[in-house]
Amino acid sequence: MPAATTSLEEQLHALKTQAPSDFSAAADADALEAVRVKYLGRQGSLPELMKLLGSAAAEDRGRLGKLANEVKQVVQTSFDAQKQKLESAKAEAAAGLFDASLPGRRRKLGKLHPLTQTTERIVTIFQNLGFTVAEGPEIEDEWHCFDALNTPADHPARDLQDTLYLQDGRLLRTQTSTVQIRVMETHKPPIRIIAPGRVFRRDEVDATHSACFHQIEGLYVAENVSVADLKGTLEHFFRELLGPETKTRFRPHFFPYTEPSFEIDFSAAALGLKGKEWLEIAGCGMVDPAVFKSVGYDPERYTGFAFGMGVERIAMILHGIDDIRLFYQNDSRFLQQF
Ligand code: DAH
Repeated sequence: MPAATTSLEEQLHALKTQAPSDFSAAADADALEAVRVKYLGRQGSLPELMKLLGSAAAEDRGRLGKLANEVKQVVQTSFDAQKQKLESAKAEAAAGLFDASLPGRRRKLGKLHPLTQTTERIVTIFQNLGFTVAEGPEIEDEWHCFDALNTPADHPARDLQDTLYLQDGRLLRTQTSTVQIRVMETHKPPIRIIAPGRVFRRDEVDATHSACFHQIEGLYVAENVSVADLKGTLEHFFRELLGPETKTRFRPHFFPYTEPSFEIDFSAAALGLKGKEWLEIAGCGMVDPAVFKSVGYDPERYTGFAFGMGVERIAMILHGIDDIRLFYQNDSRFLQQF
């Protein structure tokens, strides 16, 4: 065996044991890099030995080549292992910087919008009386918004100044009274529904008007329903909503779909409100026989009462809010107060 070949073989064996111990002695990334360059760099010992393979005797070349590959594998593996070890040590050290005694970061809790809260309060009181929630579309036709509600073609509410019409003749509902018609058209009495929803009017926006706002409609139809039922139900409702001391007053009024009709005022003093003694809060009345006829009910057999109120107005009264626009600006400084 020629001397040069022996020494190549010995050097390869030496490398195989020396390199792993040098790698595992590397205490940090810089030391590791230095060892890597020493063995694996372009002029490192392994590539240098590989170059010598070419000049080895032909009969040894196969055996030496195999050995060289083995050594290369061992050197690479011990480098990788040490690199991994140093990195996870570093990550562990960084984790040690976490101070578990620091207070957590508090997330702001969201809550229901004051209009949603008010709607839910109102609806719940009626649900406890056996009323069921009903809904109807916001895009309506003239039949459900006006004709079936006994509102004649020349009624001012139907004017272009008051109602937003679509090009196809449909309209954005101006009141939730539409839901009365939709429910009666599809259900037989007895009917007890409460219908919250959005309504739209061609109104100039100011502190007390909005082109889009919310109403809650109620309808009770059965046999022998009287004005006493209407008064009893709504008096109970307003005492639940505004407090047991609340007084209500039913003032004669006109609505096309009820006869007789009333506006309801409540005693402002009950809420500690100064200024006016009575505040108007809702409209109501006994369902007009003409409405029953338009939905195919027999007005000789059935009677009923209906009522409607504005959610914004009630929320403003309950919370002493003086500008309706605050509800729609979604400023969290306003909203978080409720
Ligand atoms: N629809 C009326 C409005 O928009 C409110 C109303 C009044 C509804 C009397 C009723 C009612 O059901 O009987 O102002």
